[in-house]
Amino acid sequence: MRLLLTRDESEFEWYTRPWYDLFEPYVQKMGREISAQTKVGSHREFIRTYHNVRTPMRKMEYSFAFRVFKLLRRLNCECRTVLDVGCGWSPFGCVVADIFSAEVTCLDKDRELIGFLSEYAPSWMRSVQWTYGDLLELSYPDNHFDVVTCISVLEHIPRGLDSQALRELMRILKPNGILILTVDWGPSSLIENLFRFLRRSVTGVKRLATGSIKEVVQAAVGPKPYTTGSLVKYLVKECLFIGVTKESFESLKRVTTCDISSWWVRHGLPDYTPPRTYYAAVGLVGVKNVTLARRLEENLKDLFP
Ligand SMILES: C[S@@+](CC[C@H](N)C(=O)[O-])C[C@H]1O[C@@H](n2cnc3c(N)ncnc32)[C@H](O)[C@@H]1O
Repeated sequence: MRLLLTRDESEFEWYTRPWYDLFEPYVQKMGREISAQTKVGSHREFIRTYHNVRTPMRKMEYSFAFRVFKLLRRLNCECRTVLDVGCGWSPFGCVVADIFSAEVTCLDKDRELIGFLSEYAPSWMRSVQWTYGDLLELSYPDNHFDVVTCISVLEHIPRGLDSQALRELMRILKPNGILILTVDWGPSSLIENLFRFLRRSVTGVKRLATGSIKEVVQAAVGPKPYTTGSLVKYLVKECLFIGVTKESFESLKRVTTCDISSWWVRHGLPDYTPPRTYYAAVGLVGVKNVTLARRLEENLKDLFP
């Protein structure tokens, strides 16, 4: 688990560099679709996504994922089959397919989106397969994908169901598979929802870091009476989620909504609190294989000091 907190411009610049190298050309393609008013470029949700994928949080989340993909390639880990869960209208899966030569399936439970893109996606968005599905009940067999990505989706899963979601994501991973999961802290909703959304996101991340993971671990290793302390010990020892340490739990607990100021504050909203952190997100890497977990953890230390 990596907390992606940036406290100044240079830190932000470091965290988001892969976005500028790999993702930005796709944003330009999106912009051209919009200017040309093509079928997809005229769609309201496509235009909204064009703005969403450029928010500072998303830049950090995608960059985290790209760094992990690069690491997997460097370590010769298999990343041929990839499932991007809750893909939305984002071209993230296309970037992964093109840059990392992967066979990518992009899945979302928004039927309209899947139907529309299956029919009208421009050629540059056709390097992936657009598929309808519900993360809570995936139709894939166990041990199916090399990599599963889930970018900014878990916080949208209804309260109480996030452990089921995590279980599904782990289930469809191959024994040597890797789950890349991010959750952002920030409103993507309308300005008037700012405070409500912030509260919900933060609560979501905290639940992910405490209660829900506990249930996932129980599902993975059988019913054992876990306390938070022994759970953390288990996670550190067995590395179900890499880098989930006592310290990372503690630092999560210390982050409050007051720490998170950002882009929308700069964009004319009243500064409701003095910022201590500019942008925030959490990046998690989940694996099933303990040996692989140790190998990844060592390398992630270099990647995210
Ligand atoms: C904030 S968007 C993130 C989209 C995309 N991953 C990105 O990088 O911009 C959340 C997406 O999750 C999808 N979603 C929500 N619940 C889902 C579920 N149970 N199964 C699959 N997709 C879901 C929504 O339809 C939406 O497209």
